[in-house]
Amino acid sequence: MTDLIRQRRLVQPSFHRSHIDGYAEIMQRHAQALADSWQPGQRVDVVAAMGDLAASIVSEAMIRTPLGATVRAAIGRSLPDFAQGAVIRALMPAAFGRLPLPFNRRFDAAARELRTAIEGAVRTYRADDGDHADLLSMLLHARDADTGEAMTDAEIRDELINILIAGTEVTAMTLAWTLHELDQHPAIAERCHAEALAATADGPVTVSALAGLDLIDRVLHEVCRRHAALFLMRRATTSITLGGVHIPQGAEIDYSIHALHHDQRHYADPDRFDPDRWLPGKQDNLPKGAFIPFSAGNAKCIGDGFAWTEMKIALATLLSRWHLRQVSDHTVGEALATIPRPTDLIMSTEPANGTADT
Ligand code: HEM
Repeated sequence: MTDLIRQRRLVQPSFHRSHIDGYAEIMQRHAQALADSWQPGQRVDVVAAMGDLAASIVSEAMIRTPLGATVRAAIGRSLPDFAQGAVIRALMPAAFGRLPLPFNRRFDAAARELRTAIEGAVRTYRADDGDHADLLSMLLHARDADTGEAMTDAEIRDELINILIAGTEVTAMTLAWTLHELDQHPAIAERCHAEALAATADGPVTVSALAGLDLIDRVLHEVCRRHAALFLMRRATTSITLGGVHIPQGAEIDYSIHALHHDQRHYADPDRFDPDRWLPGKQDNLPKGAFIPFSAGNAKCIGDGFAWTEMKIALATLLSRWHLRQVSDHTVGEALATIPRPTDLIMSTEPANGTADT
């Protein structure tokens, strides 16, 4: 069994549906705090706001005890430099990472701060052996079903950092693109606001109310189709012929979920934003593998259920309070990142149904 598969088997149970439902309160509370912090007419840097929201949610789901506050502060300081550095280093030759450039020094300092903070939390949890209903407790108690082996402290640390990075940027970009698409499609946005208001009519949105967010669900499907990963990498573990092309063992292969999601054979008018292409029954003939925002196979995203719950809770909470409109002196562009990152997404807040200032 490869290390990847072994790690996957140990971590996967922590993302079981029952645990994700337990994180819904964290997701709702952080989304509510963001909605409460906005004032009518405020200019919001949406990419930064969604990044902070996603990072706060994942970090609290990881470490729920009071110790989490110290770790979260370290994460807040180090994550931007660490995440940016990790992507650039993955794309550059290894020697680049050893050059004494300011950029590398920032990355190394961020990596040290992040690792030290998380290692401290792992040691403290290991010493008290309690169950704090968070990811760190679950990883400490995870045992391999065949061998009974647990993860080492270093493996748990690396796994938490992996989850932190993978669970923040892409979720934040998907939420940011959703707010942009809704601004571009006011009629769809109106219906989403109505859905969000209905889901929050009796108080904060609950997990059971998420099933009623049909249109928001379709909007998220369409955002995940249109704004998917540009390219991901795989290495051939054996030589193989794929689609008539011979791929030797050890070859690095790039694949693009973005290109797959824009294939006209599967999606009519693929550049059009059309959440109704996800109405029940409409995609019955879509071949397996034609819609894979979370990838597929052994390396598929472990956090898909987490992400979907988080994004629906965040949207229901924010849209029940606010309309976000692009401010006219900024034009949205796209920057290269795993999932293209919207640039200049500066939006202004307008109370939805006059609810925000009540
Ligand atoms: C809209 C939100 C998200 C999208 C579209 C997404 C997408 C993906 C994709 C495409 C991969 C596979 C990468 C590859 O094949 O190399 C992946 C991996 C992963 N994702 Fe997600 N993800 C999202 C949210 C999350 C969240 C919320 C978490 C955790 C809380 C998470 C945790 C992970 C982890 C741990 C991996 C494995 C990374 C690795 O193998 O090193 N993701 N994700």
